[in-house]
Amino acid sequence: MGAVALSVAFDTDPGIDDALALILALRSTELRLALVTTVAGNGPLEMTTRNAVRVLEYLGAAHVPVAAGAATPIRRPFHGALGYHGPDALGQLMLPEGRAQIELRAACDLLFDFAAAAPGERTLIATGPLTNVALAFQRHEDMPSLLKEVVIMGGAFQLTRFGTGNQTPYAEFNIWQDPDAAHLVFRSGVPMTIVGLDVTNDPSSALDATDLARLRESNSRTAALASDLLEYALRQHDYCFMHDPLALATILDPSLFEFTEGEVDVVTRDDEERGRTFLVPSAPSSNQRRTARIARSIDGPRFKELFLSRVLEA
Ligand code: BDR
Ligand code: CA
Repeated sequence: MGAVALSVAFDTDPGIDDALALILALRSTELRLALVTTVAGNGPLEMTTRNAVRVLEYLGAAHVPVAAGAATPIRRPFHGALGYHGPDALGQLMLPEGRAQIELRAACDLLFDFAAAAPGERTLIATGPLTNVALAFQRHEDMPSLLKEVVIMGGAFQLTRFGTGNQTPYAEFNIWQDPDAAHLVFRSGVPMTIVGLDVTNDPSSALDATDLARLRESNSRTAALASDLLEYALRQHDYCFMHDPLALATILDPSLFEFTEGEVDVVTRDDEERGRTFLVPSAPSSNQRRTARIARSIDGPRFKELFLSRVLEA
């Protein structure tokens, strides 16, 4: 008998690489995708929600409940990233409209129920701004102690030469968008794995034209969607960075990464350092809680093989 699949909730703002991460999640038998919650990030909330529904339905996963979360960061205006992800935040694909009903209950309550259903056993993957996660923790104070882990794509910790900002010279987009939410989550005591630009901006882990050609050889729906997303990104850039799929990969194969442990902090001031993330190393002898595991290197070729083989698998 195979191992029991890990139940995961996915908090996301699709987004090209968020959609690639959803594809990877649905192609991974180690995981059971129990809930998708959406947040304003790459696009406004209605857009990211529509995209999540369209992607799930196209991939035959309409049974996965989808709830729309926060339309704006906790206390700042919203800024999208449509310049990169396209006018619909999903590379202008000809994906059919989804028909699924959006959950009526609040995303933060559904996230809490997800965690509370099996304390210590369930993982939340967050690949957008951390607004929904912070709101869930604010409303349900015991939630951080109920999760096995939160896996976060966000931040730039200067652990490698790629670990500088993409929104500003200092800050990564997800964290910059809602630094107050990040601050709350970082302080919550929840066990965290964080994958920042330190590894996701490493070109060895990014897909390129050769990978696109390989995906195009397959006739499957999954490969067709991945190829279309990738092609859109490659029309503008030499590489398609795999920020969000890399977060998922820490669960699927942690041996792809090296990690460092410590506490993390974030600049919440509205100056040029807004959203800058810091790592505060824990002294081996101290009693400090070491709640964060931060990726500090990636085996790019092995990650790419993991992604491509799962998408191409019959
Ligand atoms: C992050 O920002 C978004 O544009 C991507 O989807 C990813 O989650 C990278 O900085
Ligand atoms: Ca994202």
